[in-house]
Amino acid sequence: MKALITAGGDGTRLRPITHTQNKHLIPIANKLMLAYALDYASDAGIIEAGIIINSGDTSIAEAFGNGDSFGMKIEYIEQSAPLGLGHVVKIAEPFIGSDPFVFYLGDNILVGGIKKFIDDFIGHGSNCHLVLSQVPDPNRFGVADVQDGKIIGIEEKPDHPKSDLAVTGIYVYDSHIFEAVNNIKPSARGELEISDAHQYLLEKGYSVSYSEITGWWKDTGKPSDLLEANRLVLDNIKDERKSKIDSASTVSGRVVIGSGAKIINSNIRGPVIIGENVTIEGAYVGPYSAIGDGCAIINSEIEYSILMNDCSISNISRRIEASLLGSDVELLRSKSKPVTHRFILGDQSRVEID
Ligand code: DAU
Repeated sequence: MKALITAGGDGTRLRPITHTQNKHLIPIANKLMLAYALDYASDAGIIEAGIIINSGDTSIAEAFGNGDSFGMKIEYIEQSAPLGLGHVVKIAEPFIGSDPFVFYLGDNILVGGIKKFIDDFIGHGSNCHLVLSQVPDPNRFGVADVQDGKIIGIEEKPDHPKSDLAVTGIYVYDSHIFEAVNNIKPSARGELEISDAHQYLLEKGYSVSYSEITGWWKDTGKPSDLLEANRLVLDNIKDERKSKIDSASTVSGRVVIGSGAKIINSNIRGPVIIGENVTIEGAYVGPYSAIGDGCAIINSEIEYSILMNDCSISNISRRIEASLLGSDVELLRSKSKPVTHRFILGDQSRVEID
């Protein structure tokens, strides 16, 4: 069994963050998004993974190298343009060969990993195994029409979904999927849709089995999805404190604090993760916050937010919440007169003030 993991695409809904970095390198609970996929694959006993990257993107290989730290051998496969998930599978055929494989969309995060789904695929002896999840908004996803415990049709982002069962970004295939992706045509939006490949398999009479996710699963397309994924991961963290907390500070709930952190006269209310060499002084850090390495939060309050590395927040009077800050972002109270709002914002930044 091999793994094929996506790390390409445009990430348009996560701009401006994705103007300067690949979305799969955004941290969720201080761990790179794609590292979850690699950990799940490695936990399932997979030792060979192919990662799809945009042409010329070196950032993913810089982050994960040859896969040694995951006990895997990683091969990087360049996609000339984001021409669809069917196209991704098509260009991966030389890497996959005739092995069965798990196809994992690198922007999906779930609890419990993927081993169970691989076991289900093997147990069913099917050609294709899909992982479904009930969602409130099925028109954002591939949707399965399930009758009497069997999938009878799959549609991509339908206007009138036949069920509330989304096809998640975890698929297990044998090599018949290559026949499918080589026979489908691009959709109206110009992509080779993976849902059309699944529909092809159904129409040709190949067996398509499924499992339903019972825990949580998240496709992290939008900033609000990232915050939600961050919340869900933090809900399962174990307390681990590698730095001292001064006597004027209160820390409650489950909290991970990295080495070299300074917590001075502050209130930390978990679940929270704080990276290495972070300074928190005269501040409140509330539930579901992930604070990256090297950040400083001084005389300010924050909760339910993600701060990437080296951010600095000082003397902000109103509590910051539901916020996503890229690396090296600075938020500070104006010291000079007149006291005004001053912004230096990149393309497509978003600021909400009262
Ligand atoms: O997350 C589940 C959904 O993923 C499924 O329900 C849909 O059927 C499936 O089409 C897909 O829909 P999305 O609109 O969420 O796909 P997205 O374009 O966001 O791409 C998913 C991942 O694949 C992401 O890691 C980016 C990467 N990608 C995408 C395309 C289109 C590539 O690497 N190359 C591509 O050409």
